[in-house]
Amino acid sequence: MTEALKKVAVITGAGSGLGAATARRFHRDGWTLVLGDLRAEGVGALAQELGATALTCDVADEDQVAALVAAAVERHGRLDCMINNAGILGAIGPVGRTPARDFNRVLDIMVSGVFYGTKHAANAMGEDGGVILNTASLARIGAWANHSYTTAKHAVVELTRSTAVELASRGIRVNALAPGNVVTGMTSSLSGGKKAAHDRALARNPVPYVCTADDIADAFAYLAGPSARGITGQVLVIDSGLSTAVVPPAYHQAEDRFVD
Ligand SMILES: NC(=O)c1ccc[n+]([C@@H]2O[C@H](COP(=O)([O-])OP(=O)(O)OC[C@H]3O[C@@H](n4cnc5c(N)ncnc54)[C@H](O)[C@@H]3O)[C@@H](O)[C@H]2O)c1
Repeated sequence: MTEALKKVAVITGAGSGLGAATARRFHRDGWTLVLGDLRAEGVGALAQELGATALTCDVADEDQVAALVAAAVERHGRLDCMINNAGILGAIGPVGRTPARDFNRVLDIMVSGVFYGTKHAANAMGEDGGVILNTASLARIGAWANHSYTTAKHAVVELTRSTAVELASRGIRVNALAPGNVVTGMTSSLSGGKKAAHDRALARNPVPYVCTADDIADAFAYLAGPSARGITGQVLVIDSGLSTAVVPPAYHQAEDRFVD
């Protein structure tokens, strides 16, 4: 991207994991960045490294999301891409013991947060249109032992699809990414460390490869770029084949036989 074409992106949950990798990738591609995260420390250090703007922002609070988007427009005069990425794992466990406040907090962050980001980004995007990208999950495809997370990621996909249809006439494309297991702070804390998270994912993936945050960042960069100009309302699954495998990969290596 040349200086003359410099475009502006806002990324939420940019302080670590997929959001941070995406910020680095967009920076390399020449984007001007406004980064938001609930935790000031990580996003502040990254913004300093990339020469970006950092704002502390709880995406569950509409005013804070509006302020994040407004900062992009006030400082840089435009908004071209909004990445609604912030998320938490939230309440894990049996539905009968899930506290309502925990369930609702997950939906506030991962459903309302995406709605606020989409709403304020769409209002801020000008005649050139733009791109809105949402982080969904494989939990959108199959149920997972985390009811609030599964519910939220299904909702993110349907919000992606419905807003994609409405905003298409304004030249705004809306798509989602559904990562499989990527080793980040989120998955490491669930699995008991980075190595355990990696090994657990590797054992389940048909492709013997665990996608990295950089793989997800590359996909965000593709969907934000002109090569994806005809793509909207879609969910791009990046999971080393995990969601396609109804049976474990080893099943296909079983002894040859014909069963009648
Ligand atoms: N890592 C994976 O395997 C995986 C798979 C599928 C989907 N995802 C999704 O990717 C996104 C990023 O997750 P990650 O794996 O990079 O995890 P992560 O924990 O490394 O990063 C999440 C970031 O979001 C921030 N955040 C949390 N709550 C926030 C809030 N209310 N407002 C603003 N920021 C907030 C955190 O501070 C953190 O910096 C999430 O939406 C997650 O559900 C991750």
